[in-house]
Amino acid sequence: MNGRFITFEGIDGAGKSTHIEWFAQQVRARGVEVVVTREPGGTPLAERLRGLLLTEPMSVEAETLLMFAARREHLLALIRPALARGAWVVCDRFTDSTYAYQGSGRGVPTDRIAELERWVHGDLQPHRTYLFDLPADLAAQRRADARAADRFEGEDIAFFERVRNGYRARVDASPGRFVVIDAREPIDNIKKLLQDSILSI
Ligand code: TMP
Repeated sequence: MNGRFITFEGIDGAGKSTHIEWFAQQVRARGVEVVVTREPGGTPLAERLRGLLLTEPMSVEAETLLMFAARREHLLALIRPALARGAWVVCDRFTDSTYAYQGSGRGVPTDRIAELERWVHGDLQPHRTYLFDLPADLAAQRRADARAADRFEGEDIAFFERVRNGYRARVDASPGRFVVIDAREPIDNIKKLLQDSILSI
């Protein structure tokens, strides 16, 4: 496996999606193939699961399992083949989201998530994860202007505070993998930080 697997994470409204395509262009400019994708989603089946996950009321267990079902499809059909041919895969969310949202946000025990993680991608972790960190109340203000809220975006501030803390616990567990970005910084500062960080991936 010669490629690089890079993930972008953060609570809804932190602004990660604004930067992903730009980041991909910077890497492409170095002559590398870049595949931009997202979770849940990235394959026809996983996109259908995404539709259910974002709209359909369901148990927290079903939600967690469907996230990993979509992930397994995504890994087999898109992520692994791309990495195998040497591409860089830039993914909007991955398993850190499950620890943060289903784990810290909804209360699924961490060891359950770890078990599913081992089953689904025990041998593959992102080489680099950019965490867009923003206080939950500021993220809620940013979301207020956006499109109609889905099943996650409609959660209250306390939920997103737990999710944010969940992300911080992920950083503490694997500090070498993360670059934490203060999402209150001006966009140009964030771009510079991303640009400067590419060489160390
Ligand atoms: P997005 O709006 O950033 O594309 O993500 C869709 C939603 O799915 C977002 O609110 C976070 C949520 N999500 C989880 O709860 N667990 C996961 O494992 C993933 C990948 C996303």
